[in-house]
Amino acid sequence: MNTRFKAVIFDLDGVITDTARYHYLAWKRLADSVDAPFDEAFNEQLKGVDRMGSLDLILARAPRAWTPEEKLALADAKNRHYQELIATMTPDDLLPGALRALEEVRNAGLKIGLASVSKNAFTVLDRLGIRNRFDDVVDAATIRNSKPHPEIFLTAAAHLGVAPQDCLGVEDAAAGVASIKDAGMVAVGVGDPAVLYRADRVIPSMLHFRLADY
Ligand code: BG6
Ligand code: MG
Repeated sequence: MNTRFKAVIFDLDGVITDTARYHYLAWKRLADSVDAPFDEAFNEQLKGVDRMGSLDLILARAPRAWTPEEKLALADAKNRHYQELIATMTPDDLLPGALRALEEVRNAGLKIGLASVSKNAFTVLDRLGIRNRFDDVVDAATIRNSKPHPEIFLTAAAHLGVAPQDCLGVEDAAAGVASIKDAGMVAVGVGDPAVLYRADRVIPSMLHFRLADY
């Protein structure tokens, strides 16, 4: 396989597995409980954004202000609901094409990284049975700045020992694509080209991921 890249760094939620749907469901219930408007279009702004950042975006649309203690309780409630939803996940919950993509990258001799701002990333990887397929995992515990800041992709590249310009990043969120591009990498968007307009190429699903296309 001829490729100019030395590493591929994948996002988790919405790229490897459909946990983006579970985050949506959990945030929707939380937003309804505080009378904040919430729909799929608004949810796009939350994808790739960490837990408290997402909560702040939701509460900015709620009819009243919330104390820091109340905010922590709301974030905990959302996370408990999310953890209930992921508790039954199995390797069957890998998105179609995701495993094949990981195998293609591995067989091409490239390093494989994971960049997720989720504090549940390792739990999800373990439920899917794929933790050992990654040379490095950067999650919320390692970084200070959530996506769209480039820190998480830059940290993954540094851990892999690969220069950012030799990395391909794969993301389903606008904030994630911004993080990849501002890290100086090539970005693959998975989803809607109108949302992921900063990506170098957008594919409708991981079934369409081919290393040779980049
Ligand atoms: C990202 C998701 O991967 O992780 C966001 O795209 C989510 O929707 C964020 O809010 C934080 O996840 P967690 O599991 O730490 O609440
Ligand atoms: Mg994602």
